[in-house]
Amino acid sequence: MDYNELARLLAAHGQEHVLAFWDELSAAERETLSRQVEAIDWDTLALFSRPEDLSGGKIEPIPMLSAEEIARDSKIYRKAGREGIVAGKLGAVLLAGGQGTRLGSSGPKGAYDIGITRPLYIFEQLIENLLAVCRDCGATVPLFVMTSEKNDNETRAFFRAHGNFGYPAEFLRFFKQDMAASVDFSGKLLLESKGSLALSPNGNGGWFSSLLKAGILADFPAVEWLNVFAVDNVLQRIADPVFFGATLLSGKNCGAKGVRKAYPEEKVGVLCLKDGLPTVVEYYEMTEENNNRRDRNGNLLYSCGVILNYLFRLEKLRGVAGKKIPVHVVKKKIPHIDGAGRLVSPEEPNGYKFETLILDMVRLMESCLPCEAVREREFAPIKNKTGIDSVESARELLKRNGVEL
Ligand code: UTP
Repeated sequence: MDYNELARLLAAHGQEHVLAFWDELSAAERETLSRQVEAIDWDTLALFSRPEDLSGGKIEPIPMLSAEEIARDSKIYRKAGREGIVAGKLGAVLLAGGQGTRLGSSGPKGAYDIGITRPLYIFEQLIENLLAVCRDCGATVPLFVMTSEKNDNETRAFFRAHGNFGYPAEFLRFFKQDMAASVDFSGKLLLESKGSLALSPNGNGGWFSSLLKAGILADFPAVEWLNVFAVDNVLQRIADPVFFGATLLSGKNCGAKGVRKAYPEEKVGVLCLKDGLPTVVEYYEMTEENNNRRDRNGNLLYSCGVILNYLFRLEKLRGVAGKKIPVHVVKKKIPHIDGAGRLVSPEEPNGYKFETLILDMVRLMESCLPCEAVREREFAPIKNKTGIDSVESARELLKRNGVEL
């Protein structure tokens, strides 16, 4: 787009200030800014003042395959899962495009060293967990690592520098997620510099469209299922044959690992049925009444807390690829330049980012098998430096599970 076209487009959305420094920009910077503006989804941006209403709908509990039931039938599940893995039907997707702001590390979160007497990087621990399954099955699971514009080079270089932590390069692929613009509280686009919008990763809900766009699924034509998982749970079971087998045999389009909520108001998304479809309801959307409802045995009725470990049937994913999922408008601290071109690093949230979330894809799958994961054995998330869900708490859980630090 040339200057006039850009100016017209921006003016139509009340965003003329984006071109304030145009005269100072080089040809390359103008090109970058122009491409960024062209890529803006204006409908999404407009949501800052009228976020989608995600409440409502009839909420009902969804039965979860309990840890006891899984243990009872584990032989059958494991056999089916292993056969699927050996046949190359399962791929794994590591979501590593987030910024890990709560952890406060500047590099990719997976490059964080959680070791005590030796270096142990988060990526290394995850790869080790996956390699253990590959060794057990005698087959390698294709691993797709999602990065973002912000950490792609660093992530790839980190893997290279560490010999991919032993993962065979022919089974490893990287792909980048898309970026989204952010706005201040009055809906004005924020600029990161004179020649660039303040862009940030567009949430983990865009993983499948970005994976498709990258065209790398075609390298593994036998893959029929994808196990998607977060970078920050170091006790994560990836390509767990039992989970995979149980989901395969259930005939459902999706499987979700969940831990039993520790207490009614725990801040985790809860897998429920909403108007008959499996849906993850965010903790802040759950009513107090539902949070506290119990079954005859005194167990919480809405107890399946999701831990971002899902299995998706590829065919179904392809079928719903163009469908919209909700955009979450999130208040954040967004560094930007002011009208005079000076950098501002806010101490408090100063604007909105727009993100889609993977948990909203469960509903599109239409059927889902929730499988209980035993918290102490499978859930050690690293979100913060100290306290709850921190490096400290994850180290403790790793040690209890026999990992030497
Ligand atoms: P979180 O919601 O914990 O976000 O991500 P985060 O960016 O890692 O951390 P904070 O909120 O800034 O502290 C859950 C998972 O989704 C991935 C993360 O890398 C993590 O594995 N993610 C998140 C993406 O891949 N892309 C995103 O845009 C956001």
